[in-house]
Amino acid sequence: MYKKFFEFYVTKTEPEKAHKLALQLIKNSFFLRNPFLKKDYKNLNQKILNMDFKSPIGLAAGFDKNAEVYNEIGKLGFGFAEIGTVTPESQYGNQKPRVFRLLEDNALINRLGFPNDGMIQIKTRMNKDSPKGICGVNIGPNKKNAKDIDDYVLCFDQFCEIASYITINISSPNTPGLRQQHKDENITKLIDELHLRRSEKSSKVPILFKISPDINDKEIDSLCRIFLDKKIDGLILTNTSISRDKNLYSVNKIEEGGLSGPPIENLSNSLIKEFYNRINKKFPIIGAGGVRDGKSAFEKIKSGASLIQLYTSLVYEGPFVASKINKELSSILKLNSIENISDAVGIDCN
Ligand SMILES: Cc1cc2nc3c(=O)[nH]c(=O)nc-3n(C[C@H](O)[C@H](O)[C@H](O)COP(=O)(O)O)c2cc1C
Repeated sequence: MYKKFFEFYVTKTEPEKAHKLALQLIKNSFFLRNPFLKKDYKNLNQKILNMDFKSPIGLAAGFDKNAEVYNEIGKLGFGFAEIGTVTPESQYGNQKPRVFRLLEDNALINRLGFPNDGMIQIKTRMNKDSPKGICGVNIGPNKKNAKDIDDYVLCFDQFCEIASYITINISSPNTPGLRQQHKDENITKLIDELHLRRSEKSSKVPILFKISPDINDKEIDSLCRIFLDKKIDGLILTNTSISRDKNLYSVNKIEEGGLSGPPIENLSNSLIKEFYNRINKKFPIIGAGGVRDGKSAFEKIKSGASLIQLYTSLVYEGPFVASKINKELSSILKLNSIENISDAVGIDCN
């Protein structure tokens, strides 16, 4: 019965309607009451950025854009959630349709363009239901200000107290000009401005940068140099990709926007390795892109990610995906005689 409903939901319901329904179900549903979903596996426990993560699996930005289910997400076995992307003013985003399923590839293409309720409304919502677990806030600029850094500072001011960490999104492909922030002079200025703001506010909130998978070796080199020099707290690798794998089957592969899910897994893993090899363990990497089971999660960890985020597999595998990954990952570690997940980070590098 559940399987049939879920199949119908994944294949037939319009993607944005299905997403709304998923939020409602997560908010109200009885299946969250199953204590086995958030079973604690000791070998998955880690301390990162001074926070205790029960599971390395987090909910990636974009699913809970408006901070509606971050507290329920923990009951599904996720070790942390990231809300947003939040912009200063509320905005509608791009014209619909703007989310496309690539069913044959278990993938998605989206060109949402940061639809969200805006920072004030979202912060008010969070204040009414303060985070019970680790909750990051992903921030970005309104479309009309994509090339400035002021919007990041405005959002930072709003969320630096309530967020467990702040993610600076410079990598969505659906806000024209945003990816320009990867350029040396822009990212340097952005980091300086945010670090200054943090000390002015006497805040200690970790600031993470979320990077595009569509960058070359030279860009990786200079970004790493800057990140090490500026002593950033961490990275999220990666956002969705504008590249299109030759092996995509679905007709929807022609849609414009960011590709996510298994077709970007290798791209994301190789970027994680490139960064991991250059940063000398100075800060943690959160890996995202195509994680859907214990094996793919383990690959990301071995590539250098200390934590993982997922979105697309929640759509295709359903609400129990994090709990399933925890169980599988814990067994994989035991099978490989690895005592704790932190011992597996980066073992495939160099
Ligand atoms: C529909 C959709 C909306 C997204 N919205 C955001 C967003 O607002 N901000 C952001 O940083 N990433 C966003 N992402 C990217 C995800 O957070 C993640 O980095 C990417 O999808 C790769 O992970 P996955 O393969 O597990 O989906 C979005 C992804 C999808 C599929």
